[in-house]
Amino acid sequence: MTPPATRLGLGDPAREARLLARIIETISAGLDLEEILRGIAALITETTQTDVCFVYLLDEAGERLVLRGATPPFHQMAGQVELKMGEGVSGWVAAHGRPAVITEDKLSDQRYKHIPALGREDFTSLASVPILGKPHRLVGVLNVHTRQRREFTDADVQLLGWMAGLMAGGIENARLHRMLAQREEAMERFAERIVLAQETERRRLAGEIHDGISQRVVSLSFHLSAAADAVRTAPDVAAREIEEAQLLAEAALDETRFAIAGLHPPVLDDLGLAASLESLARSIPRLEVHAEVRPCELPAHVATAVYRIAQEALQNVVKHAGARTARLRLLAHGDTITLEVEDDGQGFAAAGHPDQTSQAGPSGYGLPGMRERAELLGGTLEVKSYPGQGTLLRLRFPATAERRSTFSLRVSPE
Ligand SMILES: Nc1ncnc2c1ncn2[C@@H]1O[C@H](COP(=O)(O)OP(=O)(O)OP(=O)(O)O)[C@@H](O)[C@H]1O
Ligand SMILES: [Mg+2]
Repeated sequence: MTPPATRLGLGDPAREARLLARIIETISAGLDLEEILRGIAALITETTQTDVCFVYLLDEAGERLVLRGATPPFHQMAGQVELKMGEGVSGWVAAHGRPAVITEDKLSDQRYKHIPALGREDFTSLASVPILGKPHRLVGVLNVHTRQRREFTDADVQLLGWMAGLMAGGIENARLHRMLAQREEAMERFAERIVLAQETERRRLAGEIHDGISQRVVSLSFHLSAAADAVRTAPDVAAREIEEAQLLAEAALDETRFAIAGLHPPVLDDLGLAASLESLARSIPRLEVHAEVRPCELPAHVATAVYRIAQEALQNVVKHAGARTARLRLLAHGDTITLEVEDDGQGFAAAGHPDQTSQAGPSGYGLPGMRERAELLGGTLEVKSYPGQGTLLRLRFPATAERRSTFSLRVSPE
């Protein structure tokens, strides 16, 4: 039996005002993103008389839609369902920036993709609208489903779009709040790590000075004393001692340079980031590194962070990948800077994601350290690795300081 189409669109000012008040109440309930999305999903199903609502948000890179909120019991799946741009009805809506309605027989709709985790076989009709922030920025996609067949009217879809638009600002605020909280946590972790790193670095320097440089200076001093004793009686012995002392002075100088180079990459100051990365690429032993780097103007601390990430990524290639070649790229697209280090080595199973793309990998200090640096730049670090198919590490961050604070929210529907 087909229920009559329900017209839910706006038009009644009193109803509109009540709805507005409830939307404002929902999005001002707090700054917890999950809670806001749960509230939104509940309000939407109630208002549109639908059975279930899913809220997908675009990820930071603007590439995937991630389920972030839903009505029970699907709220438990938050964070566990992802769609690429263009994939499924939601992906289609996100990619086209237009609503979609399927009244029945969704399986025969080419845009539809069954997601087993959501078990939506029970649902017959659906309406999906983009969540658009200002200025026309895609924040995510909102879907409603009904068990019984339902003809979603233009007015229904308009109402959904209107509500989604009103909620976009609240969602963005909550995301911004979460991003700032994460950034603060990253700062704290980074500060702890800096203290630890300083201690390690001090021990390393002390070791190098004690075992290397000071030993050489002691021997050098012996040779000079021997030369001083022999200078009148045996000038040829004195000459040999001075020669020895000279070699030791050179070795001590080399070791001093090495110790200093470990503290700060001196090439960065002299050559700038692009040339330093090229020089880094050439300096990696037993690995052919193809460098493609564009000169870009970045503040010194940002350039150092990028250089350190490239250095650790290449060290990982040497240590773990067993690769023949690697590619190092530094690109600027508009205001976004991208650093990529890719190798053709054995790859690894980055945990936590079915397609082996992950936020986390096996334990070590390198990857977490790189991720923290990326977060401090207001950017993202992506590790794509498949056993047997090499590894791609991609850092993306905004070039300008103002945009570094809002980068995670930057998404574009195009
Ligand atoms: N390019 C790569 N190819 C293959 N495996 C990699 C690559 N990069 C990282 N890995 C894997 O990820 C793990 C974690 O890397 P990470 O840099 O965090 O730690 P690590 O290199 O083992 O130690 P550390 O960097 O603290 O000296 C490595 O042990 C390795 O198993
Ligand atoms: Mg490492």
